Amino acid sequence: MAKVRIQFECSNCGHISPKWLGSCPGCEEWNTFTEQKTEAKPVEHKARVSGLESNEAPQKLSEVETSEKSRFLSRINEFDRVLGGGFLPGAYVLIGGEPGIGKSTLTLQIAKSNPDLNILYCAGEESAGQIKQRAQRLGIASSNLLVYNETQVDKIIEEAQKKSPDLLIVDSIQTVYRTELQSMPGSIQQVKECAALFQQLAKKKGITTIVVGHVTKEGDIAGPRVLEHMVDTVLQFEGDKNYTYRLLRSLKNRFGPAQEVGVFEMKEDGLSEVSNPSELFISDKTDGISGNAIVCTMEGSRPLLIEVQALVTPASYGTPQRTSNGFDRSRLALLLAVLEKRAGYSFSNHDVYLNIAGGFRLSDPAGDLGVCCALVSSLTDKPISQRISFIGEVGLGGELRTVPHIEQRKKEAAKLGFKESIVPAGKDKNGTRYVREAIKKALG
Ligand code: TYD
Ligand code: MG
Repeated sequence: MAKVRIQFECSNCGHISPKWLGSCPGCEEWNTFTEQKTEAKPVEHKARVSGLESNEAPQKLSEVETSEKSRFLSRINEFDRVLGGGFLPGAYVLIGGEPGIGKSTLTLQIAKSNPDLNILYCAGEESAGQIKQRAQRLGIASSNLLVYNETQVDKIIEEAQKKSPDLLIVDSIQTVYRTELQSMPGSIQQVKECAALFQQLAKKKGITTIVVGHVTKEGDIAGPRVLEHMVDTVLQFEGDKNYTYRLLRSLKNRFGPAQEVGVFEMKEDGLSEVSNPSELFISDKTDGISGNAIVCTMEGSRPLLIEVQALVTPASYGTPQRTSNGFDRSRLALLLAVLEKRAGYSFSNHDVYLNIAGGFRLSDPAGDLGVCCALVSSLTDKPISQRISFIGEVGLGGELRTVPHIEQRKKEAAKLGFKESIVPAGKDKNGTRYVREAIKKALG
């Protein structure tokens, strides 16, 4: 009988250690080591799945044949745009997101929007019956959708080669496994190995593959940082569960722009595309209330108007409160310091609450100016005209710094009826130099 050896593996990055460690030297995460029993004989890591063996010799680049097959579309416009114009045959795509955010719904809906596609949907998390129920609710009537209730990778790959679908969907990578490996499905070893096999399937057989992956609480795709290196495209599906909007963001894309964003809304009958997302994030009920400012941020190549809300109240006791929702707290502290030093507004005796409406996270530096104006508007209790939008980064000297795509942002604001945009001086002749000037313009 083979001797059993015990080792410890980091569940986040796969680092192996002969003894248990509190902090992983590979990724510096805490408490991630789990015990594993392995046979003394090391497992051979070869693709031993029939049909995927390689016997290719090196060849001259000029002689490499390119199949001039063109991209095909999911016909979900927002999805296709994020992919960079649809799927490239043989592309390997990872869709990550928290449980319940809508990954299964999105991938199933491709069968509805493009019923001509032959899709092999491998489900590891739900039974075929449950998928049928969901498909009925989503109104999917495609006869080209095959549902395969299988989690054994070798079988999936065999079936995929037999059926040769336009699109293989694996939902999710954490549920599939190889029988040769001793670790549990979802362990880093299984995920790595299975993902590598799907990669070979995509590249050698040209089968476009989508794998769905769960993300951890911290927002990383569970374990597999390694997964991100293997795939061509990493898409992150995100959103706040308390709100209905969802963002599909490309974090990496070998075949298109990265940081592109598609916007969806989760409804009773599935995800619907939002072609004018700015309307989703601004309300018209706040006219005349102090502390509200509209900023124009960029999400990928797309301008998006969102509403910043500030509430500044006299601090009753102790250290004044600084609370922010959807905005970096230390950035808020910095902007408060700039306002105090460079514009003469003191917040030291006030509690400050900042909120980005709609559950949105504002991380674009171009939002700084809007945040400053919202803060001062609440402090002085003077409302900002709802017909003004703000664009600009605020520097430590109180100066307005220019940001990319100003023209595009201004156009988006104008489209939604914002007559005036306050922008940094730079190329723009009518721009504003300092944050205190901008505040004067906005509040009179
Ligand atoms: P799901 O696609 O199962 O999420 P994931 O695969 O990322 O775990 O989405 C589940 C959530 O979406 C669930 O909370 C219910 C909601 N939902 C709707 O609101 N409308 C729908 O038509 C569907 C199918 C799901
Ligand atoms: Mg799911």
